[in-house]
Amino acid sequence: MPLVSMRQLLDEAAKGGYGVGAFNVNDMEQIQAIMSAAKETRSPVIVQASRGARQFAQDLYLFKLIQAAAELNPEIPIAMHQDHGNSFETCKSAIELGYTSVMMDGSLKEDGKTPASFAENVAVTKKVVEFAHDRGVTVEGEIGVLGGVEDGHGAGGSGLDHITDPDQAVEFAELTGVDALAIAIGTSHGAYKFTKKPDGSVLKMDVLIAIHKRLPNTHLVMHGSSSVPKDLQDVINQYGGKLKETWGVPVEEIQLGIRNGVRKINVDTDNRLAITGAIRKVFAETPEKFDPRDYLKPAREAMQKVVAQRMTQFGQAGHAGDYKAVSIAEIAKGYKDGSLSTQPLVAAK
Ligand code: 13P
Repeated sequence: MPLVSMRQLLDEAAKGGYGVGAFNVNDMEQIQAIMSAAKETRSPVIVQASRGARQFAQDLYLFKLIQAAAELNPEIPIAMHQDHGNSFETCKSAIELGYTSVMMDGSLKEDGKTPASFAENVAVTKKVVEFAHDRGVTVEGEIGVLGGVEDGHGAGGSGLDHITDPDQAVEFAELTGVDALAIAIGTSHGAYKFTKKPDGSVLKMDVLIAIHKRLPNTHLVMHGSSSVPKDLQDVINQYGGKLKETWGVPVEEIQLGIRNGVRKINVDTDNRLAITGAIRKVFAETPEKFDPRDYLKPAREAMQKVVAQRMTQFGQAGHAGDYKAVSIAEIAKGYKDGSLSTQPLVAAK
């Protein structure tokens, strides 16, 4: 199957009432781990690359690897997504490479650190939507600001600093025509999200539910959604790591989100933890080994396990064969003739 539009993938997820994990990649082993998990669980999947990942791997290496994944797994719908585009130019370059989806994170200025005004966010996101939709490419926007930093991108601080205002979310969706909307509900990127198991005072699921009530057909996106499971932390610390005690987003909360319009769930940290734990274990238990395959293979397997588990928990498992890819050219036509809506359904308060 060729790479599919993320819009198609999320529309199908909405029909089926499930969520789709969006997993970050930097290298071949991570892509292979995701594809093995998708094959194992028969899941459609979103693979995403941050600006940092594109720089680390170089654009062409990374994109050709994704094309290889699509060729080798024709039965799996795959959307290739730019995570946290900081500018029109970043999104444009991803679209020109062949990404089928981009995130324009206009919640921050182009430096990827300073919160932007609502008007700035709307203007740059709208510009990306026009360019992307003309070419059949999906756009995710963000309203509210996430906490933490990922690959150098992020306002830092707590996820509670800039929680999304539901009225602004409605206005933003109407003004920009985005296909998916990332909202800030208290999560942050990285391993250190919460200093205790998150309850209602730190994870604002009530805000998410309020936004879904107002925008019942809009695909919502949860960033910073690693669960940072204790068993993955323990492996790292058992083999010489020094992670401080921390909590992530409980899977049950993500499942509550999925019942309330969340269709894309971003996960990076859990996979990083699984990889690092597996490598540390090999180094500690068999220090005489020096062939990278001796530690990259278990690392890849550890990531596959986490991804397959999330795919099952998010409900995307078993849905790979539900539909055929609509070509990106057809999707572009859909945006033009209005058969693919860009205006959200808005419910009264
Ligand atoms: P985590 O750090 O929680 O995995 O979040 C990743 C993410 O949101 C990527 O955009």
